[in-house]
Amino acid sequence: MKPKSARDARVDQLYEQLLEIEQRLIPTGLHVFGRAGELKEKADLLRMVASFDRPERGVRALTKLVAEGLGFESYEEIIQPTTTSDSRELIDGIVRDVVDRFCEQGAGAAAAFLKSQANVGAEQSQPLFALLEDISTKLDSNQEVESLMRAIRGEYIQPGPGADIVQNPSALPTGRNTHAVNPYSVPSQAAFVRAKQAADALLQRYRDEHGRYPTTLAMVLWGLDNIKTQGEGVAQALWLLGVRPVRDALNRATDVEVIPLAELNRPRVDVVMTVSGIFRDLFAPTMALLDKAVRTVAQLDEPGEMNYVRRNVAARFETGGSFDDAVTRVFSNAPGNYGTNVNFMVMQSAWESEVALGDLFVTRKCFAYTRDSQGRTVEGREAPELMSDALSRVEATYQNIDSFEVGITDVDHYFEYLGGISKAVETRSQVRPSIYLSDSLSPQIKIRSLAETVRLETRTKTLNPKWYEGMLKHGFRGVAEIENHVANTFGWSATADAVDPWIYTEISNTFLFDEAMFERLRDLNRYSLEALVKRLLEAHARGYWNPAEEILEKLRLLREQLAEQFAK
Ligand code: BEZ
Ligand code: MG
Repeated sequence: MKPKSARDARVDQLYEQLLEIEQRLIPTGLHVFGRAGELKEKADLLRMVASFDRPERGVRALTKLVAEGLGFESYEEIIQPTTTSDSRELIDGIVRDVVDRFCEQGAGAAAAFLKSQANVGAEQSQPLFALLEDISTKLDSNQEVESLMRAIRGEYIQPGPGADIVQNPSALPTGRNTHAVNPYSVPSQAAFVRAKQAADALLQRYRDEHGRYPTTLAMVLWGLDNIKTQGEGVAQALWLLGVRPVRDALNRATDVEVIPLAELNRPRVDVVMTVSGIFRDLFAPTMALLDKAVRTVAQLDEPGEMNYVRRNVAARFETGGSFDDAVTRVFSNAPGNYGTNVNFMVMQSAWESEVALGDLFVTRKCFAYTRDSQGRTVEGREAPELMSDALSRVEATYQNIDSFEVGITDVDHYFEYLGGISKAVETRSQVRPSIYLSDSLSPQIKIRSLAETVRLETRTKTLNPKWYEGMLKHGFRGVAEIENHVANTFGWSATADAVDPWIYTEISNTFLFDEAMFERLRDLNRYSLEALVKRLLEAHARGYWNPAEEILEKLRLLREQLAEQFAK
């Protein structure tokens, strides 16, 4: 094949970005308790469900069935940037039509259509359509209100796993009594396999940008995520350290086995883990496992350039202190406490210097959960100095995104955690770490920088008419959601300076300087609208956005108008 010119390569790159935006599952409104979703939403969801292999149900991904039926070697090959976009569009178009037909006319019609378009026989597609039918029926039969009534009467409610529907369709039907996982089963074998791919992609991305492996990473681990993924984040940490979980006679993951360097084929990366309060409450044995992994790796007789844990522990040792202190890597809140409060500080504009945001993170999350050399459990020892020391060596920070429904601008928790820790690292190591998120739900696991993720979320949600019109159908609450997104976006400026100025400009143009839209928002919820205007002015005042003076003037005028209306 002829090598591509720089111009062609750039066009391909843009095409990839457009496709990424187009293919993203976009929530089109809030879930209404007790009500099943609409047909369009159902089709989007089913298409996403159908994009993954489900070996446990004997189902192959529809994308793969279509690709192979059309005579392509594999779908994986088609989604490589070197393949022409036509093949991919052809396959994705057929997949879309098949799922639409399934929703409108049922499995029989969809199977016949699939056969006619891509030569996929009924025997091959039957397990997939059976799965889609099962999900579709469960989505339509919403029992949430009935279950709530049963709960209020003190009656029995069927249990069901807490999970993302795309990831684990057995989360349906909703309206059941959600249960978590057995912490001893975490990480599952499947989670470990997926985790390797994500962690390797993370290391590759860092190497592409820096020409070497990161020596130390800081990871955020949440409880709900690790329930949904059976411990994918936990498994990523273990894989980075170069160990795998070992199960005892009762099949409990209580120990680790060192993966030899010859097999690992790369250095062991040091990992500082900040776990949420929910994680701490649910996964005590897992925290012990993570702590054991670090201690085991620190004591291996390996050269420092292949074992960064050992090297960092040795360096810390030289400055005094105990081995126990030098290997402490698992931190959370004080027992009984939750959250970093960084989100509250940002939302209430209750800070002067950004340094305060990182410091607050450490104040809240510096409680060490470990064991001492005598094997005694240490549960939440306040150790700000140990945490600061561990963070001072961090070169990259990272969190796994595991849900289509909740992204980094939907809630304030991503910036309070990943943003908070990144700011804490920045002020302790004197350089801003590289900040990454993985998207382990795409058919190909993707690692994105924080700035890329903010752009993607902004384009697919905040500035996307499909998203905000969906929200505005909910009236007052919808405007509050839009304002939340703007505030959460601002949170990424405050903690990580990761927001392009055009984002604030486009938010102003879309929601404030379009007169009809402004009036709509004002009529629905002037409180949130006023907060939005003030937040944009704050973004300017804090130096995250420097628009033309006339834009600022317009914003100030809108702020005054809204304040006057409040005064009336
Ligand atoms: C958690 O699942 O651990 C979590 C959820 C929301 C905010 C913070 C943590
Ligand atoms: Mg909250």
